Amino acid sequence: MRAVTWQGARDVRVETVPDPEIVEPTDAIIKITSTGLCGSDLHLYETLAPFMGAGNILGHEPMGIVEEVGPSVTDLTAGDRVVIPFQIACGSCWMCERGLPTQCETTQVHDHGTGAALFGFSKLYGEVPGGQAEYLRVPQAQFGPIRVPHGPPDDRFVYLSDVLPTAWQAVEYADTPDGGTLAVIGLGPIGDMAVRIAAHRGIRVIGVDLVPERLARARSRGAEVVDLRDVDSVGDAVRELTAGRGADAVIDAVGMEAHGSAVSSAVQKVVGTLPQALSAPLMKSAGVDRMAGLYSAIDAVRRGGTVSIIGVYGGAADPMPMVTMFDKQLQLRMGQANVKRWADDILPLLTDGDPLGVDDFATHRMPLESAPQAYEQFQKKQDGTVKVVFTP
Ligand SMILES: NC(=O)c1ccc[n+]([C@@H]2O[C@H](COP(=O)([O-])OP(=O)(O)OC[C@H]3O[C@@H](n4cnc5c(N)ncnc54)[C@H](O)[C@@H]3O)[C@@H](O)[C@H]2O)c1
Ligand SMILES: [Zn+2]
Ligand SMILES: [Zn+2]
Repeated sequence: MRAVTWQGARDVRVETVPDPEIVEPTDAIIKITSTGLCGSDLHLYETLAPFMGAGNILGHEPMGIVEEVGPSVTDLTAGDRVVIPFQIACGSCWMCERGLPTQCETTQVHDHGTGAALFGFSKLYGEVPGGQAEYLRVPQAQFGPIRVPHGPPDDRFVYLSDVLPTAWQAVEYADTPDGGTLAVIGLGPIGDMAVRIAAHRGIRVIGVDLVPERLARARSRGAEVVDLRDVDSVGDAVRELTAGRGADAVIDAVGMEAHGSAVSSAVQKVVGTLPQALSAPLMKSAGVDRMAGLYSAIDAVRRGGTVSIIGVYGGAADPMPMVTMFDKQLQLRMGQANVKRWADDILPLLTDGDPLGVDDFATHRMPLESAPQAYEQFQKKQDGTVKVVFTP
């Protein structure tokens, strides 16, 4: 089959690789019909290069048709239409039973001390072959796949793999009080969808980014927007819109690809070019994050407010403004999205009309063969690229 493979920093190639097969009785094989390109893939594309292996198959936002199931997968049959959550979880361990499948105790990656294994997501998360491919082996298929109806186009459901539950969890964790204001820092696919979900719930939303078309998309969904390029301080701009106090809740939907911190960006580039044996430990302990989005979130939230971090961070030594966080009495919630925890809450918004506008959420539909170009234009934010969905 054809698959998008990682070959080196900023070097992805579409290659012919062996078709996946059932290995465990709990596996399923899916023929992929649509598969997304995510901001998280950009971390692997460059920043997390030390944790990647040449030839790793990328991608974690697939949907498609069940081809074959192992003997222990009793809920699925060939021909079912399914969306595959980005995390791999058993559904029956202590964590899964508590709605925390990203912490699944059956699939945790003990070698790296991390949570549940993820599709297409580096050694840190189990180096499981990913979903930007023609076929996918789905481990723990007795639990993971979300069955969706035949009929509507793939775009209606494909974001259940990641974007929708991730944005949903961000809004849930932000816990904006009635009548309150939510600021969303970063308006990539995740921030954009968080804006839509919050606006759908009647929450007042302020969106922040620096890319004109991303600001325009958020504005068209009812958000007030702050253009990073026009302000000296995001915190001041948000306070100006909120009676001087700041937003009741802030979502950080930026993560470690933030613009605006040249020094750590330089460190990150250096680490990315070291031999893996040196760079991986350095990356984990020295901390090479770019924190501009998170610092803005902490500044823009009001005293006693909540910061919901959904952007992905790694590293350990970045200074956090503890004095401000403590003095402002902040609540912080964060983590990978627990996809199946939210799927049933989201599905009615996909089957009863399209209030979140998922049908035309993708800006680019591209063949899998165009992946090298797609990664580059998504990273550089060229050609109006906000969300790419591949058709294998
Ligand atoms: N927690 C999870 O389960 C989960 C799931 C999916 C994605 N993510 C993470 O969410 C983040 C966003 O993903 P995405 O797909 O929307 O990617 P993205 O890279 O397209 O979005 C990031 C956005 O932040 C903007 N930005 C950069 N620096 C900024 C700054 N200083 N202030 C304001 N905006 C700034 C960029 O212009 C961009 O629009 C990534 O870190 C991704 O890894 C987390
Ligand atoms: Zn994703
Ligand atoms: Zn589990």
